[in-house]
Amino acid sequence: MVICEHLIGKEVIMITGTGCWCVTLLLLLHRADSERFEVLGPTRAIVAVAGDDIILPCYIKPNISAEDMRVDWFRVNLPDPQSNIRVHLYQDGRDKYHDQISSYEGRTSLFKEELKKGNTSLKLTRVQGTDDGHYKCRVQSKIYYDDATIQVYITAIGSKPEVSIEGQKEGGMGLLCVSKGWFPEPELEWLDSEGVTLSAGPSETDRDYEGFYIVKLKPIVKETVINCFTCRLRQRQLSEQIIMETEFHISSELILVHEEAWRIAFTLSVFVGIVAILAFPIWQWNGLRNDYDVSKVKHIQELEQVKNEHSLQLKILADQLDFVKSRT
Ligand SMILES: *[C@@H]1O[C@H](CO)[C@@H](O)[C@H](O)[C@H]1NC(C)=O
Ligand SMILES: *[C@@H]1O[C@H](CO)[C@@H](O)[C@H](O)[C@H]1NC(C)=O
Repeated sequence: MVICEHLIGKEVIMITGTGCWCVTLLLLLHRADSERFEVLGPTRAIVAVAGDDIILPCYIKPNISAEDMRVDWFRVNLPDPQSNIRVHLYQDGRDKYHDQISSYEGRTSLFKEELKKGNTSLKLTRVQGTDDGHYKCRVQSKIYYDDATIQVYITAIGSKPEVSIEGQKEGGMGLLCVSKGWFPEPELEWLDSEGVTLSAGPSETDRDYEGFYIVKLKPIVKETVINCFTCRLRQRQLSEQIIMETEFHISSELILVHEEAWRIAFTLSVFVGIVAILAFPIWQWNGLRNDYDVSKVKHIQELEQVKNEHSLQLKILADQLDFVKSRT
């Protein structure tokens, strides 16, 4: 048995058996002009805000009924147009979901009453970032098909940038700016108090499960006179540019506290060193000799006094360090 499927222009002819060509030619000759139609989509792209319900318009002209036709809605996978993604299928008078991609599950429907009038528009509910792209609406009768392409842009306004301190970093203080829930991807930059862009390397980009962007930017700042920094977010890809800014003031105290913590830690270790050096000979004299020479006893007393004084200072410094640490 031979199955022939001919796609001549937009004619779809499927014949089972031998002598396909003769039958094909016959069919071509007998094709009724009334069975040809055109599939039309919108002339402009559809722009939707995340969370909205939208209609992707598509209809056939002339307005014959599409109830007995096959209506295919799929995503055009741009890097590889052959591997289309099924969004919705209507065939043999009903919807078929067996090969629908999971991200569209429960969100697609056709207007059944409208099908009679040749209106094959698709309703897509609760649009999300991953819905952004090119769609194809293909309507196919037994002998003919046509399709239309529809471009959908999804936009989502995310959160105001949030700024926080990452901590002491090599050469300064590490800051962090994060903004979530955007589509398309926005740009981030850090500015100093004079509006000069700080070098912060490339921003990090992530996408949440609905396809919305999370952007992060981490600069390392040095102490300046004003210590005021701004994280600026810019969305240029919408019809109207959006700018959001979050100002961040680091008190120089905070930078100082960090520096002070290091200074105290350093002084502390020096003191521990000195005490150890002083204590070692005392321990040696006590342990190795039983020499009660008055001058030596006096010397030991003096050294012990120095040691006690230093221990007291050491304790004060340790307390101070604990206090500073508890504040950072
Ligand atoms: C098709 O369109 C014509 C005019 O454009 C209208 O008169 C007719 O009612 C329509 N048919 C259907 C089935 O909607
Ligand atoms: C098709 O149906 C939808 C939903 O009712 C409607 O919004 C749209 O205008 C219709 N399109 C045409 C061409 O009739």
